[in-house]
Amino acid sequence: MASNITWHPSLSRKERNEYRGQKGMTIWFTGLSASGKSTVATALEQHLLHLGLASYRLDGDNVRFGLNKDLGFSEKDRNENIRRIAEVAKLFADSSTIALTSFISPYKADRQTARELHAASAAGSTDEPIPFIEVYVDVPIAVAEQRDPKGLYKKARAGEIKDFTGISAPYEAPDHPEIVIKTHESSVEECVAQIVEWLQAKGLIELKSK
Ligand code: ADX
Repeated sequence: MASNITWHPSLSRKERNEYRGQKGMTIWFTGLSASGKSTVATALEQHLLHLGLASYRLDGDNVRFGLNKDLGFSEKDRNENIRRIAEVAKLFADSSTIALTSFISPYKADRQTARELHAASAAGSTDEPIPFIEVYVDVPIAVAEQRDPKGLYKKARAGEIKDFTGISAPYEAPDHPEIVIKTHESSVEECVAQIVEWLQAKGLIELKSK
């Protein structure tokens, strides 16, 4: 039998965070298509990695082409898209990773469900709940439509894409997001700095020396 192996029936999240030297959390970006969610989330992910903090971004490329490839853009499919993403983000965060999600997530109720899932993560244990930080990428629809990097707004206006957020499907802006960023007023670097400063002020990240 192997010796010198310590084994605990269950490792708490607090212990995992201590071993990993960082807190897991979910940073949830929400906003219109072309609002800049993925651009800022990607820059934030890189910045956190440079700081020595494990972080991982979930977005359409790795979720809608894989785990959620069976889902479209009806309200019901978007509900399920967000439900699965919330569960996966929670698992990453539970593993002491900083999970970043960048999805339109247009419905308040879905984002609330994601928040509650994280809040409930402490139930029945001595652990603290996994932090859930909602970042509203707030740009006017006119700005998003003008950017239109994939030409989707144009197609939606022409009636070629149905249920397009902001045109023929709703976007319900958050009432109380933890952070609001405006990519039409601030640079990507400024938006990243704004988020990092918020996380530091709340004691959620400590900068490690490499
Ligand atoms: S969500 O509403 O379910 O959160 P998600 O973020 O995964 O949406 O996907 C949005 C991306 O899919 C958009 O940025 C756009 O590139 C593409 N897309 C394709 N069809 C639609 C549509 N009907 N509404 C919004 N985005 C769409």
